[in-house]
Amino acid sequence: MQPTVTPLSPGLGVVVTGLDLASGSDDGLRATVCELVTRHHVVALEAQHLPPDRHVEIGRWFGDPLVHPHLPAIDGHPEILRVHKEPDDEATFGGEYWHADITFLSPPASVSLLQSLVLPPVGGDTLFANQHKAFEQLSPAFRSMLEGLNAVHVYPGRSEDEANVSAVHPVVRPHPETGRPALYVNPAFVTRFVGMTEAESRPLLEQLFAHQVQPEFTCRVRWTAGMLLLWDNRSVLHYAMNDYFGHQRTLQRVTSMEVGPR
Ligand code: SIN
Repeated sequence: MQPTVTPLSPGLGVVVTGLDLASGSDDGLRATVCELVTRHHVVALEAQHLPPDRHVEIGRWFGDPLVHPHLPAIDGHPEILRVHKEPDDEATFGGEYWHADITFLSPPASVSLLQSLVLPPVGGDTLFANQHKAFEQLSPAFRSMLEGLNAVHVYPGRSEDEANVSAVHPVVRPHPETGRPALYVNPAFVTRFVGMTEAESRPLLEQLFAHQVQPEFTCRVRWTAGMLLLWDNRSVLHYAMNDYFGHQRTLQRVTSMEVGPR
């Protein structure tokens, strides 16, 4: 069966119906899903309802599923994070920041796979911003200047000297599969440019943080029951809306990591 692929915006994101990852054979399915992610960066697969083992197995299509060094996993599945908010919680999982997942490690995350379990009646959407477009919209001289910079990414609240909390990445990072350059900074994890202090880095970082999430670069995913949402952390930033106070929202995430030299 051919899937139906509906764009969410001109620049990124599709909603897909007609694929069954839970029971489908992997022949062809894996290539189809990986191709959709490479092409559209954000892929919302309707009505999957994957059991945890299968969720992790599909995560392996995109790299090594991470056992998060700082956050607890669900029982029996160390690679699955619970993304949960109680009706009376104020804060969301991950906070109200645009970010890519796990940029504080090297190699960083490739693709995240988030599946919905309990959703609010309305709200709790996830927003995405295309970082290839964000880079390409800058002027040539500014792009060249950024290409010479590296940035320090640190897990919030930790010092960059501790183990498993910090990494250095280029500010402009070519996508490992397509070679297309993307802006690779985010306000959740980046603290400074290499060779500069935090105070020296702040004005340019603030400028980039504002530029990289302009509405023209974004799409918005409205969650449905059992949706599996995949996004490429090398191409997009994401932001979870905190607009559903009084309702529970529970999802589970597998985060696949780029595979470095073995
Ligand atoms: C996350 O940052 O992985 C969570 C996204 C969401 O809750 O929509």
